[in-house]
Amino acid sequence: MDVKINFSGRGHKYTKQEQELVAEVMNSDENLTQGRHKDAFEDAFCRYNGNRFAFSVCNATAALEMAAQMCLFEEGDEVIAPSHTFTSSVYPFVKKGAKPVWADIDFQTRVVTLESIKKCMGPKTKAIIVVHLYGYMIPEIEQIAQFAKENGVLLIEDVAQAMGTEIEGKKAGTFGDFGIFSFHSHKNITTLGEGGMLTVGEQKYADIIPMLRHNGHCGYDFEREHYWKPAMGNVDLPMLDGKVLMPNNYCLGEAECALGTKLLGRLDEMNATKRKRALRFIDELSEFDDLEFHRVESKQHNYHLLAAYVKNGKRDELMSKLAFEKGIKCVVQYYPLNRYPLYEKLGFGQADCPNTDEFFDNMISFPFHLWMSENDFEYMLKATKEALLEI
Ligand SMILES: Cc1ncc(COP(=O)(O)O)c(C=O)c1O
Repeated sequence: MDVKINFSGRGHKYTKQEQELVAEVMNSDENLTQGRHKDAFEDAFCRYNGNRFAFSVCNATAALEMAAQMCLFEEGDEVIAPSHTFTSSVYPFVKKGAKPVWADIDFQTRVVTLESIKKCMGPKTKAIIVVHLYGYMIPEIEQIAQFAKENGVLLIEDVAQAMGTEIEGKKAGTFGDFGIFSFHSHKNITTLGEGGMLTVGEQKYADIIPMLRHNGHCGYDFEREHYWKPAMGNVDLPMLDGKVLMPNNYCLGEAECALGTKLLGRLDEMNATKRKRALRFIDELSEFDDLEFHRVESKQHNYHLLAAYVKNGKRDELMSKLAFEKGIKCVVQYYPLNRYPLYEKLGFGQADCPNTDEFFDNMISFPFHLWMSENDFEYMLKATKEALLEI
């Protein structure tokens, strides 16, 4: 296969200033973890996204692991989750003992709805995971949050792909009990390949996350005569609602945090660039009935990914033509989780999600990294038109 346009795992490139900032942190005498850049990043994040508390972590999966711990699952508890998502939206909850109940997506928006969640509710439901997939913020997020609250169920918002999206000025990740963000290599902003943020609104979570994130380290609750006695620092068990949790080490380094703060400054601009390009691609292909995109002009979509439904069973023909004749490597996403051996072997292989199945089995995701050159973008557009005419 002669690849002209690959599906890049690299979301964006860095400016000279961003590179210099990282070099500055590398060359300084300060600690490379747990320092002022962490505090600054978390403050800047709260200001940008409108969260009360934010905690930087080594990736979004670590944030999900901690959220899952704080759900305090008991034997038989269930968690509602879309099967149409990346695996780490869900397996951390399974690890902590929850049974996933799969919610279907809406066919047009490709995200869960209040109705699809209601269908999965039962007496054992302890938490709901919603995912703002492809970069699209769930339209009914406010109603879903209200519903969770009324039913005493925790809400986890996976915003890994939708950083910067908003509805009426309120950002994704401010509705749930826990907000999950990713700065992985492929994401809207990346802190050198790995990184994430866990946000919470309640003080009781904010009180224990630093210990949960960093080996159970904490201060002493009494005045010490010598800073080295009884030890340099204390190590204790984080407690939540009278239950003991075991700590982890999920910290993010200082260079990554410094870079993260800087990148927040141009996130809106990067999202706007992608949105503009996505709309151009969608509009130029609107005459082709075989392709169905999800077109959104507002900041509710950041077009992290550019996905479409291919009608009339023509997906594989289109993928083949694009790959082997035009050199454009499209991909398919997201394999319904219940079909993976990991979930099947654990007994979670059954799902009643017809929209998910129909969409996944016929979807295509185009290469859509921010740094794609104008020439490559034009080529992809032209080649896709040709391919659609030929099939
Ligand atoms: C929806 C979703 N959730 C969670 C994650 C996990 O992110 P990370 O790689 O930062 O752990 C990803 C990453 O691809 C994702 O797309």
